Amino acid sequence: MKVAPSLLAANFADLRPQLEMINNSEADYLHLDVMDGVFVPNISFGFPVMKSVSKVVTKPLDVHLMIVEPDRWISQVRDLGAKVMNVHAEACTHLYSTIQHIKQAGMKAGVTLCPATPVSSLVDVIAEIDLLLIMSVEPGFGGQPFIRHSIKKVAEAREMLSSIGSKAELEVDGGVNMQTGFELAQAGASMLVAGSFVFGAEDPANVIRSLRAL
Ligand code: DX5
Ligand code: ZN
Repeated sequence: MKVAPSLLAANFADLRPQLEMINNSEADYLHLDVMDGVFVPNISFGFPVMKSVSKVVTKPLDVHLMIVEPDRWISQVRDLGAKVMNVHAEACTHLYSTIQHIKQAGMKAGVTLCPATPVSSLVDVIAEIDLLLIMSVEPGFGGQPFIRHSIKKVAEAREMLSSIGSKAELEVDGGVNMQTGFELAQAGASMLVAGSFVFGAEDPANVIRSLRAL
């Protein structure tokens, strides 16, 4: 299992030691949650913060854009050195083109689905994407309870990816802990985001190691 700790749950007044913890951990990515107060009812951080973070972090960046018109920001995300750019299907009017533009910029194209958006809505672009991100909470806040229906959705997404022989990553975000992580692994997830479960732990590196072993 790949693990992407979400910086949203970190203490923003004291980032460096937490970033160094990530660097020294077994984390596969650092997950960065960008919110605009329009697509979601919260505002997190933007490019100046991510630029500073990217200079300290040695792990690949998984940038999750919870913003309207994410295609306007492709070159800025690329300039951060991000490996994955995740856009919400609900925020893209021309999702097929946005996916192509992200790939042309040299990044992996991730498409994210809110809890109410069915996996089947991606049937016509699924072969184009490098990563499918299933939200298991409504986007906008860390620390929310896991939506159990997401397990079925992950199984359905795994089925859809397998049916076309896709090697795309199947990532899940929201309410991940050891129990939900185990069930998501069983359902076919290949990558887990964890915010409060990692940063709220006494030994975050150990939590990352345990999730990776799922
Ligand atoms: C929510 C974000 C998540 C968030 C997850 O909108 O996309 O990445 O940090 O937080 P936890 O793991 O606490 O549910
Ligand atoms: Zn996220």
